Amino acid sequence: MTIFSVQSTIFTRASVVLLSSNGLKRFSFASSFSSNAVYSSPLPKMKKQRRYPIVSAVDINGVTIARNDVVRDDDPTNNVPDSIFSKLGMQLHRRDKHPIGIIKNAIYDYFDSNYAKKFEKFEDLSPIVSTKQNFDDVLVPADHVSRSLNDTYYVDPETVLRCHTSAHQAELLRKGHRRFLVTGDVYRRDSIDATHYPVFHQMEGFCVFSPEDWNESGIDSTLYAAEDLKKCLEGLARHLFGAVEMRWVDTYFPFTEPSFELEIYFKDDWLEVLGCGVTEQGILKQSGLDNNVAWAFGLGLERLAMVLFDIPDIRLFWSSDERFTSQFGKGELGLKFKPFSKYPPCYKDISFWISDSFTENNFCEVVRGIAGDLVEEVKLIDSFTNKKKGLTSHCYRIVFRSMERSLTDEEVNNLQSKVRDEVQRKLNVELR
Ligand code: DAH
Repeated sequence: MTIFSVQSTIFTRASVVLLSSNGLKRFSFASSFSSNAVYSSPLPKMKKQRRYPIVSAVDINGVTIARNDVVRDDDPTNNVPDSIFSKLGMQLHRRDKHPIGIIKNAIYDYFDSNYAKKFEKFEDLSPIVSTKQNFDDVLVPADHVSRSLNDTYYVDPETVLRCHTSAHQAELLRKGHRRFLVTGDVYRRDSIDATHYPVFHQMEGFCVFSPEDWNESGIDSTLYAAEDLKKCLEGLARHLFGAVEMRWVDTYFPFTEPSFELEIYFKDDWLEVLGCGVTEQGILKQSGLDNNVAWAFGLGLERLAMVLFDIPDIRLFWSSDERFTSQFGKGELGLKFKPFSKYPPCYKDISFWISDSFTENNFCEVVRGIAGDLVEEVKLIDSFTNKKKGLTSHCYRIVFRSMERSLTDEEVNNLQSKVRDEVQRKLNVELR
């Protein structure tokens, strides 16, 4: 079943573990910081071997968030690693010369010129939201898999890193907004490959209609909204890509009925770039909009940018290598990314007997925690069950590859050995 679709199509098994609430601790406010991330120094002795320094605080729109507010060892619900914390406040979508910022601006241009600037824009809403905003307000059922610790980053039982920009729909409607675009960074625990990264960017669009809009059309309000939505998004795709092969796929979201996905043909495959639909009446009713209909969509900006600029790997968006960053310019939509070089991959396999609590997302998080952006892909290549032992074995192939340089054997062996140690220690598996 496809639920939150824009980055991942498969939701892995998970149980919902929500512990008693203690609320989000107060955030400290401070005057401005020149950079987004503040690094603690000196590093504690035992952490010296880490590839990246631990960030002690981040700045989100002038608000300083301390590491301890988001990465908590004292709360068993908390599953936010340092690597994710350090991404808070980076806001790639607000950088005009970055592909994510360029594509955001191009989408703004489309809406400004086709809807006479009637869509309001929000791009600095905090990614730290309540479970109510992220799930309840958009009618995600209590037992829905997306609420699990396996899929979502929890700060505490009632606070998450938003896993979609839909988390802001209800609050903006309540405040009286009727047509808006919300852009922001979203966070999901997920698998590792060229189109998946645990932080990415979405743009949410929302448009409310009144009876006078559809009455004269002579068609039913839901159909009216669905047709208007598809026309709008097909126009956007043409604005961005010109003639591109695309197709609509029917799907399911808790917040829309009917629901659709738009896929674009890219590198010999169909790539899902957005989810959308006609908003459930329950969401509109929360804001007293009983007599209205609305459409909504959530676009995956990385995916659109990958198609537009021919960017082969989602990790590149986080690269500060000038050979990447210097290729893009404000408002420049026509160019294609020129790979600076393809460095060789290095493959390492790891096999272990899994336990009942094992999940692939947890495994991927361990690998990312050690290898950072040097890991390109994690793939299950073999699985079998030994009936006598009552145990299941998994063999994963890890592809290590830097986008910026060649890795040495020693470096990769070192990473793999750390992965082996940590997988055993953290995931309760038995190495084979
Ligand atoms: N929130 C969905 C996701 O992350 C995308 C989406 C689907 C947004 C339908 C919407 C919507 O606003 O109406 O995959």
